[in-house]
This record gives sequence, C-alpha cells and structure tokens, in this order.
Amino acid sequence: MNKLNYNSRGELIFAGHSLLDLAKKNKTPFYVYDLKGMLGQINQLKNAFMTPTHIHYAMKANSNPTLLKAFSKQKIGVDTVSIGEIKRALECNFKPTDILFSGVGKTEDELIFAIKKKIKQINVESPEELIRIGNLSKKLKIKTPLAIRLNPDVNPNTHPYITTGFRENKFGMDFSFLPEIKSILKKYSNSVFLHGVTLHIGSQLLDLEALEESLVKTIPLFNSLRAEGYPLKFFDVGGGLGISYKDYEIPPRITDYANLIDRHFSKTDIQVQIEPGRAIVGPFGVLVGQIQYIKTTEYKKFAIMNTGMNHLLRPALYGAYHKIAPIKFNKNTQNSSNLYDVVGPICESSDVIGKDRLLPKLRSNDYLAILDTGAYGFVMSSHYNLSLPPKELVLK
Ligand SMILES: Cc1ncc(COP(=O)(O)O)c(C=O)c1O
Repeated sequence: MNKLNYNSRGELIFAGHSLLDLAKKNKTPFYVYDLKGMLGQINQLKNAFMTPTHIHYAMKANSNPTLLKAFSKQKIGVDTVSIGEIKRALECNFKPTDILFSGVGKTEDELIFAIKKKIKQINVESPEELIRIGNLSKKLKIKTPLAIRLNPDVNPNTHPYITTGFRENKFGMDFSFLPEIKSILKKYSNSVFLHGVTLHIGSQLLDLEALEESLVKTIPLFNSLRAEGYPLKFFDVGGGLGISYKDYEIPPRITDYANLIDRHFSKTDIQVQIEPGRAIVGPFGVLVGQIQYIKTTEYKKFAIMNTGMNHLLRPALYGAYHKIAPIKFNKNTQNSSNLYDVVGPICESSDVIGKDRLLPKLRSNDYLAILDTGAYGFVMSSHYNLSLPPKELVLK
C-alpha cells in the first residue's frame, strides 16, 4: 500500500474497504488480502516480456489457498520449497507440470513425491542431492528433469539474511562444482536430464545491478553446457524483485526488470523462468490488530498489541520495517502525536513490530494496521507461547 487513504469518516481504506468495518465484523488479529491487486501484478508481469517467460510464483511468500486457487487460473506456475507446498499447489489446481521444486535440504520423501508426480523441474543445489535424485529416479524408473542452481557470487544490496547468491551463502553451487556435477549427470544419464540452469540471488532487490552481473556471469556457462550437448531449454532467474516498505525505497519497475531479461534473452531461443514472490503479494496484505494497553514508562510509550512476532516475524527476524497506521483517524487527537514502540504480546524483548514510531495519540482498544504484510507474513507465523494463528480474509 503506497499511500494511506482515509475516507471522510477518517477510516483507513484498503482495497475499497474500510478496515474499521472489517475489524468490527472480524475478531482481530487478522490478515486481509487484496486479491485484485495481486492479480494486477501477475497481469503486469505476464505482459511485460518479449522473451517467452514462465512465471512461477514463489508460494513461500504467501500460500493462502484462496489466493493460490485464483493464481492457478492465471496460467502461471509455482516455485515450491517443500512437500507441503507441492501438495498445497496441487490441491489449489496447479498441474505437476506447473511446479518447480527448489530448496537446499530436500528429503528423500520429498524427492520421491516430486519425482512420482512428474513435476516440471527440480532445482538441484548440491552434488549429493543430485546423486540422491539420480538414485531415486533410477529406482522409480522415471527420467527426472533438473536445473542446477548456480551461485554466481554476487552481492546484492539487501539484508544479509535474504542474500542468497553470495559465495558465503548455503544456496546453489559455484562454478567449481561443475566437473563433479557433469560426471554425476553422466553416471545417471538414464535417470535424470539437465534441462535448465537456475539462480536466485536474494530477496527484496531494490536495484537490478547484481541480477545483471549474475546474468553476465552465468549465460556464457549456459551456452557452453549447451554446446557440450546438454539439452538446456530453461534459464530460471529466480525471484527477488523488491517492494517499497518505506517511502524512499523505490523498487525496480516491472518494465525495467523485463527490459533487463529481454536484453539478455529475447534474441535467443532460451525460455526464461521467473520466481517472484514478494512483488506479487507483498503490498497487497495488511495485518490488523488491536491495542490492548498503553504503557508509559520514564523512557518509552508502548502500544501493546494482540499481535506480534508470532504473526509477523519479519521485524524481529531481520529488523524489517513495516508502516503502521491507525485504522481510525481521530480528529481530536490528530495533533498530539507521540513516539511509540508498537510491540506484541510475546515473552521476548525482540517482539517489537515498530520502534519509535511517530503516531497520533493512541489509546487501548484502538486498532492498528501493519502494512505491506502480504509476503512472508502469515506463512512465517508460529504458535510460540501457544498463541492462536491470525485469521486470513481475502477481498475479491
Ligand atoms: C529459490 C527462490 N525463488 C524465489 C524466491 C522468492 O523471492 P521473492 O519473494 O523475493 O521474489 C525465493 C525467496 O527466498 C527463493 O528462495
């Protein structure tokens, strides 16, 4: 949500709905999603590229079934990272041939399931994983399509916890792995085949420089593997497109992203796969909670909510910033703002949703909206302190 939009009654509007109305009808805390906004992003992506580009929504960002069912009607695929996500995707009408399977630690059970379902592609992250897939495919007498995940050793300018394509990260393989990978592929040539190369350099990318650098490093390798006879068809550039959590953060435009891809691929016969998550769902979700108490100490004013790191982990996990806004703007108090630490109920001092936030004077029972929480929000929620999960509402 880029701009806060209040109606004449001073109520915060989200996707055409008053959040106050929703909070009166539904017990807080709840997440609320703007499906039309998400479909709009998918549509923009679908129309942006000259290069044949397959969108595989990274469902780790938000795997709400109502959203996934709507996404599956858009003729896009998904990127999954667990057997749970593959099963959820199938339940939500994605076909096996729409599904990619990424992740560094795939278990035997997960791989057997994916191989038997004949999904589109397994993204391989290590030589040992390749051997495991080779053995399982041999046993199951199924020839499995694979992509190798390269680690191009680039350092995107993002939070270290969401950087994945740097040499110190656990993800992918640097180029020195190639001889070993090739010899394993040879050994299992009746059971697996390499039809792609995949990257994912990090999340919340606010510029495209590192992605460009990684393409410059890896496309020649793709071409040389092809020249050696590997039947490579797909180049998967991963996800990572950032969104604007703060007003001064300006993410790359979808058109600029598409131009970058087109510059590198439109004159080739390579089919591109992209795995966006956050850019599709992030701005189109809000977490609504209610202040239980205002507590004022000599040093701080705390607004203590009925939701916190148990429902939205990002601030505690990465120090992530989310805008916070009252869902009812009170004319009597609008001129007396205060600095608040907006905190949750969990027994951890890191359970802070927003630190030192300048907000209009708050009172207990006021509702607050925590914005841009459509990605990596509900999916990271936990039952720590045996708390109950928040509800999820989808506005269609
Ligand atoms: C392999 C892979 N693909 C895609 C994504 C989606 O990233 P984002 O939500 O930043 O687009 C991730 C996120 O971590 C990932 O690990």
